[in-house]
Amino acid sequence: MSAKKSSKTNVPKTALPREIAVPTPSNKSQDGEFERAGKAADFIFSQTAHRPKIALVLGSGLGAFADEFAGATKIPYAKIPHFPQSTAIGHAGKLVIGKVGAIPVAGMQGRVHLYEGYSAKEVAFPIRVFARVGVKAVILTNAAGGIKREFVQGRLVVISDHINLQGVNPLTGQNDERFGLRFHDMTSAYDRRFREMAVGEGNRMGIGMFEGVYAGLLGPSYETPAEIRYLRAIGADLVGMSTVLEVITARHSGIRVLGISCVTNAAAGILDQPLNHLEVLETAERVKGQFIGLLKAVIPRIAEAIA
Ligand code: HPA
Repeated sequence: MSAKKSSKTNVPKTALPREIAVPTPSNKSQDGEFERAGKAADFIFSQTAHRPKIALVLGSGLGAFADEFAGATKIPYAKIPHFPQSTAIGHAGKLVIGKVGAIPVAGMQGRVHLYEGYSAKEVAFPIRVFARVGVKAVILTNAAGGIKREFVQGRLVVISDHINLQGVNPLTGQNDERFGLRFHDMTSAYDRRFREMAVGEGNRMGIGMFEGVYAGLLGPSYETPAEIRYLRAIGADLVGMSTVLEVITARHSGIRVLGISCVTNAAAGILDQPLNHLEVLETAERVKGQFIGLLKAVIPRIAEAIA
């Protein structure tokens, strides 16, 4: 009896590894992506009476467009359940829901990127939310380096196709058929009708419009001149660090896509000068008015096409 007692009191409180002594249940939600996106969508619905069918992802410098939406509700990403937070400069981190003319739209002021340390699924999560909100068309914008010689600084280019060189795909792992099929088609990822509309509206506005293939790289370093020569050789006209994962995810759920790049700089090695992020931001700022004009012209056409 006394031996038993002493053995008990002799056991130091810290003798067992913490993992065994104190089971640590995960605080993480057990919900899958579909449920998490549904919760985010429900939260958005609770904040606004608008029910947008068109969403925009506004890249570097373009976020200001959403400040023009009429009757808008602005929701910081931090308030939306499970939504990733953007850390990049020039990305405000708000979802703005309002009207462009008579058309309700949702505009993301900034996105998150793989290079910030997010996973492919996190980068694509806002598109999952748009799918749950009932969005039918998404307009993705970005800043890009021009590989094709005609794609000089300040040019707006409609993306005709992409090459995913980010090394990941947001759809790896178990497929949730409530979003879409396991092996979904990417042949016409960038909607042909939308591309014609954007080129047509741009030309009508006097912006010489071009189309090109966008190569999505991981970043955050800009490319080397040798990498740009390689990208040109494999058929890329533009290079950037975003968009491709969002497009893959949108197409998984049948959301139609328009992609437009603002060429903020000639890609590395094309001009005899180094690249810098300030130049990217300055060019995006300079072209902003034209870019916003183009979006305003295209949105009603897209709304008609998806009606
Ligand atoms: N490379 C990659 N991403 C970019 C560039 C570039 O030259 N310009 C703007 N985003």
